Amino acid sequence: IPVDRFDLVIFGATGDLARRKILPGLFRRFVAGQMTPDSRIIGSARSPLGAEGWRSMIREAIHEFGPAESGDRIDAFLGCLDYVTVDATGDGGWADLKALLREGAVRAFYFSVAPSLFGPLAERLRQHGIAGADSRIVVEKPFGRDLESARALNRTLSEHFGEGQIYRIDHYLGKETVQNLMAVRFGNLLFEPLWNNHYIDHIQITVAETVGVGGRGEYYDKSGAMRDMVQNHLMQLLCLIAMEPPSRFEADAVRDEKLKVIRALRPVPAHHIVRGQYDASDSSPSYREEVGNPRSFTESFIALRVEIANWRWAGVPFYLRTGKKLRARHSEIAVVFKDLGHTIFEGDERRHRNILSIRLQPNEGIDLTVTIKEPGQGGMRLVDVPLDMTFAQALGKEAASVPDAYERLIMDVIRGNQTLFMRGDEVEAAWAWTDPLIAGWEARHDVPKLYDQGSSGPDDALMLLHREGRRWRDIRA
Ligand code: BG6
Repeated sequence: IPVDRFDLVIFGATGDLARRKILPGLFRRFVAGQMTPDSRIIGSARSPLGAEGWRSMIREAIHEFGPAESGDRIDAFLGCLDYVTVDATGDGGWADLKALLREGAVRAFYFSVAPSLFGPLAERLRQHGIAGADSRIVVEKPFGRDLESARALNRTLSEHFGEGQIYRIDHYLGKETVQNLMAVRFGNLLFEPLWNNHYIDHIQITVAETVGVGGRGEYYDKSGAMRDMVQNHLMQLLCLIAMEPPSRFEADAVRDEKLKVIRALRPVPAHHIVRGQYDASDSSPSYREEVGNPRSFTESFIALRVEIANWRWAGVPFYLRTGKKLRARHSEIAVVFKDLGHTIFEGDERRHRNILSIRLQPNEGIDLTVTIKEPGQGGMRLVDVPLDMTFAQALGKEAASVPDAYERLIMDVIRGNQTLFMRGDEVEAAWAWTDPLIAGWEARHDVPKLYDQGSSGPDDALMLLHREGRRWRDIRA
């Protein structure tokens, strides 16, 4: 279904995110017929690039990061692009921008810039009468680096825009399987009755990456895996897994429930946190070498044992881990159900457990491990097999070809649907939980454990589960 005609202004139009994600994503929506040809994407940055200059930059970006086919649609798409040089902290360019915008089109402003510019941009959009009460603004992470800075950002934005106009992106919420998680939980009778501490032993959330910090060392070394991934992406996954059923699939109903989960998180004691840093390998540098900080104590890996203090989850540990330069790119949520407690099959000593595994990437899909009889004559021998629902297999390749997270989320902005965006109080609550954990390891002068590139992280992370008689799921491609 096409969205309404829109004018989307992208501040930071020459940046990495615009070139890698936003424009290629919009191009795919254009090819899919969702973006009407009378919509406009207006790039804006400090550089005096001009419309032609920006178009050729985006043409290259689409060649590099966009879909392989549909090359013949690029010209039509580029025809929807315009560019204006704007000084975010001064007065230059704002009148030009205003002149480009049309009455009657949905108006959205994407702040793909450093958070220090959020305030100046918001102020000028209002001051120059460019953004009205119906306009929307989209802001990227990092949304602050602690509770105080997040509060300050929220305050600044709220001076100029209402909460209903602010779209805080967490691109994990735009991932297909993340939404499928809600469909599986709330669209089937089968799971929800078992979704509690009576039947679930524990839950694992893994977001493993093979990439290192690359050229982002300066940002990353001040953040670490906790701020970069856990406070936002893993936290969102945790919320969707753990929240109570919202009364409707609607922005505030969903966000109210997520907020309750975050507020119910217990503080995490030091012995339930393992931080790691990747070591040098024969062919590639260590984390410290890569970020150019030989004394860095920043974590490129973290594992945590988290508890939610509410009726549903009392006593159920949630194990979270994420890291760079690990064995495989593999993100998964695994819901591990309890042991049966009793077996009627003589000689069957093995522990059989149902595991619902939700694979975020790659190879998106869901499988449920069930126990069945091993075929053959030899009596009742049991074996655990996955009931596999790889989407590409179940739905056919065509139907399962999923939009990238960014393109879906941008279309939601145009539709005015905030369900998959973070509300201000949610972000603050997440920082309120995160801050003391970070302050704790800083005060302890905690030194991250070294781990080998291509491994599953430091051994201590394995111990986090082993000492409780559990084990992590394999990280594999
Ligand atoms: C970003 C982090 O938010 O998410 C990066 O800043 C990380 O460090 C990235 O690599 C992971 O996203 P994805 O979609 O590749 O899993």
